[in-house]
Amino acid sequence: MGAQQVRDDFAGLYGAEPEGVWSAPGRVNLIGEHTDYNDGFVMPFALPHVATAAVTRRDDGVLRLHSADVEGGVVELRVDALAPESDRNWTAYPAGVVWALREAGHPVTGADVHLASTVPTGAGLSSSAALEVVIALALNDLYELGLQRWQLARLCQRAENVYVGAPTGIMDQTASACCTRGHALFLDTRDLSQRQIPLDLAAEGMRLLVVDTQVKHAHSDGEYGKRRAGCEKGAALLGVDALRDIPYDGLDAALARLGDEDEVVRLVRHVVTEDQRVEHVVALLESGETRAIGPVLTAGHASLRDDFRISCPELDLVVDTALASGALGARMTGGGFGGSAIVLAEAADVETVTKAVESAFAAAGFTAPRTFEAVPSAGALRVS
Ligand code: GLA
Repeated sequence: MGAQQVRDDFAGLYGAEPEGVWSAPGRVNLIGEHTDYNDGFVMPFALPHVATAAVTRRDDGVLRLHSADVEGGVVELRVDALAPESDRNWTAYPAGVVWALREAGHPVTGADVHLASTVPTGAGLSSSAALEVVIALALNDLYELGLQRWQLARLCQRAENVYVGAPTGIMDQTASACCTRGHALFLDTRDLSQRQIPLDLAAEGMRLLVVDTQVKHAHSDGEYGKRRAGCEKGAALLGVDALRDIPYDGLDAALARLGDEDEVVRLVRHVVTEDQRVEHVVALLESGETRAIGPVLTAGHASLRDDFRISCPELDLVVDTALASGALGARMTGGGFGGSAIVLAEAADVETVTKAVESAFAAAGFTAPRTFEAVPSAGALRVS
C-alpha cells in the first residue's frame, strides 16, 4: 500500500490530514543468527517491504491506533494506563513503543495513528520491528525528542522485551532503523557500532532469494527463550560476560571446559562459529570475493540445524533443494522454527532453483512457499 493511500485513509478515519507519514522496513539477515543477545555480530539488510504510519500528536493522553491489515475499528488507549504484557494483539507493538518512550522520560502525550504494512507476518522478516520503528521515528520527529536511530532501536527492543514480552535481541530494530539502500549493515550488537557494507549482487550477476516457507513462528513462545537462557548459562559457566568474549581460537578449550553439558556445548559452538562466519563474510565482501560467501551461508545453516536446533523440515528442504539445483549457498534466516530461508544463486539459475524448490514442496505435501528477490533497501524514513 502506498504512502498516499495511508495518508488518505488516516484522513477518512480521523477527519483531518495527518501531521506526517513515515515508513520502516522489514529485514532479512544475511548472516549472524542468534548472536545478537550474545553481544555478537549480525549482518542484516532492509527489505523493500515496509510498515507505513500516518500520525498526528495529541495532548490529551489518548492513543488511538488503527491498522489497515487487521479487522476491527480504532483501538483507543490511555497513555498513562499502558502496562507491560497487558496486550496480546498487534496494538502491543505501537503501544509498547509509546510506553517505552514515556518510561524513559520522554513527554509523549498521545497520538492518532493509522498503519499499513507490506512486511509478511510470521515469516521471520521482522514485521513487528517495522511496526515499532515506524512509530518510534514518527514520535521522535513529532515530539522533537532528538533521539538518534540507535537509541530508537534500543527503545523499540525494550518495548518488545518488556511490553510485548518477547525476549528478542537488538538486530531487527537496528536493521529497520539504521539500514541504508544498497548496503548490508555490519553491526556489533555489543556497542551498536556499525559499518555499511556495499551489497549489489545484481551487478555481479547474482540474486538473493527469500523463500518464505509459510510455516508461522512466534518469539513469545518458549523455544527462543530457552536458547537464550542456554547461551547465558554457557557464558556463566565459562566466566565471561557474553559468549562474544570467547576468542575463536579458544573455542575448543572452552568447549572442553563445559565437559558433558552437551546442550550448552552445542549452543556455544554455534554462537562462536557464527560470529566468525559474519566476520568472514564481511572480509569476503570487502575483498570482492562475493561468490565465496555462498558456502559460509550454508555452513551457518548446518550450525543452526545441528547445533542450535532451530530449523524445521521445510527450511531444510529449501536449503537442500536449492543447493542440489545449483545455488551458491542457502540458509534459514531469522529466529527459526519456520519463517524464511535465503538462497544465493547466479541470476541464470534463479528459475531452475525456484522451480526445484516449488516441486520439492509439492512432492513433500507442504504448503507452497512464496519466493521473492531481496534487494538491500532503505531504512526507516519520513515519507511526507
Ligand atoms: C529474531 C530476534 C532477533 C535475533 C534473531 C535470530 O529475529 O528478534 O533479535 O535474535 O531472531 O538471529
